[in-house]
Amino acid sequence: MNQNRNLKTGAVHAGEQRLKPNHAITTPIAQTSAFTFENTQDLADYQEAKLWGEQGHRYDYGRYGNPTIAAAERKLAALDGAEAACLFSSGMAAITTTLLTLLSAGSHVIFTDDCYRRTRGFITLFLKRFGVEATSVPMGDYDALAAAIRPTTKVILSESPTNPYLRVLDIPRVVDIARSRKVKVIIDSTFATPVNQRPLEPGADLVIHSATKYLGGHNDLIAGVVSGSAYMLAAITESRGVLGNISDPHPAWLLLRGLKTLALRIHQQNRTALAVARFLHGHPAVAQVFYPGLPSHPDYALAAGQMSGFGGVVSFALNADGATTGAVIDRLKIPYIGPSLGGVESLVGQVALTTYSDLSPEERADLGITDNLVRLAVGIEDTRDIINDLAQALDAVLGTTTFSLENGFLLRSE
Ligand SMILES: Cc1ncc(COP(=O)(O)O)c(C=O)c1O
Repeated sequence: MNQNRNLKTGAVHAGEQRLKPNHAITTPIAQTSAFTFENTQDLADYQEAKLWGEQGHRYDYGRYGNPTIAAAERKLAALDGAEAACLFSSGMAAITTTLLTLLSAGSHVIFTDDCYRRTRGFITLFLKRFGVEATSVPMGDYDALAAAIRPTTKVILSESPTNPYLRVLDIPRVVDIARSRKVKVIIDSTFATPVNQRPLEPGADLVIHSATKYLGGHNDLIAGVVSGSAYMLAAITESRGVLGNISDPHPAWLLLRGLKTLALRIHQQNRTALAVARFLHGHPAVAQVFYPGLPSHPDYALAAGQMSGFGGVVSFALNADGATTGAVIDRLKIPYIGPSLGGVESLVGQVALTTYSDLSPEERADLGITDNLVRLAVGIEDTRDIINDLAQALDAVLGTTTFSLENGFLLRSE
């Protein structure tokens, strides 16, 4: 409770200088590529201070840092409960730069098998070219995870919750397995956000978010962040300066603005997604619902103990073929059809047509991605409007139930 109250206040105030230029309320965008010095002595003093990490709010070149980006980083670090954070041009930039910092030829990385497809591709195709070895372990198989650790293992990387089945990782258990073997644990917490889960508290070393999703929250920016100890973040920030994938000041400013309402948005999205999952569960047109807040989900108990909310994404399989599933989606009036999640607008998609569209039906089947699988990422629209919309679309196409709205409550008669 207390933590969430702090988080609401932190989302608004953390990281921002109290006294801002021109006494503005909000942190301005420093839309500049470089920074100037009053004279040669000022530059020499800056360089000396920088050697000791004491340059304060001064910067030299935009690839290394910027005051708007730094304010967003301080806020993100505070929300994740971290000493430091580093902001990138995308979630993938955060992931790839972190792995490039921690791994080298001959080292070994373990990842859970339902990680974001581009993350898996980076590890198994890209890093492989540079001599990094990798093992994929089934999500939720902790014995396989422990058995996969080698003397050369440097990193265990997992998401939690995962896409599209919303599997939840037992973070303390993985930390326990990794710590005695001196392996770093990285959690991609994009689907949870710091409101629902803070992986650093049970001992994860780094937490990564695609800030494109809930942190930005308005479907209008691409960014990524990694948070953790000052020591690890110094190395990752150094790599960012070399790889050149820092965020631009404008998306950093949009992110600062979006973050102020993070707690409000996530609480609403948690509430709506749980109501949607309960509505779909047991609906005659729905074969299965995947939501960690439902007791029928394999990780329900784990999620209930580890998370303060179950998140805003609900996946479900219809009792229908691919074409009929598409027809139900096409009848929906509120969500846009699209591949992302976490913004104020709801987004929906047939999973086979988004992340996995370039695979053959057989390859998709191997990964458990069926044509009747739908992912709904709820926005902040009214909960009942979203449920009404789902009800009418299912009813119109599959004709299974009739619905009526009485006194603001949706009644279903089968
Ligand atoms: C869990 C997860 N991590 C990372 C990413 C990559 O983030 P971005 O699109 O901001 O590069 C995504 C994108 O969908 C994601 O879903």
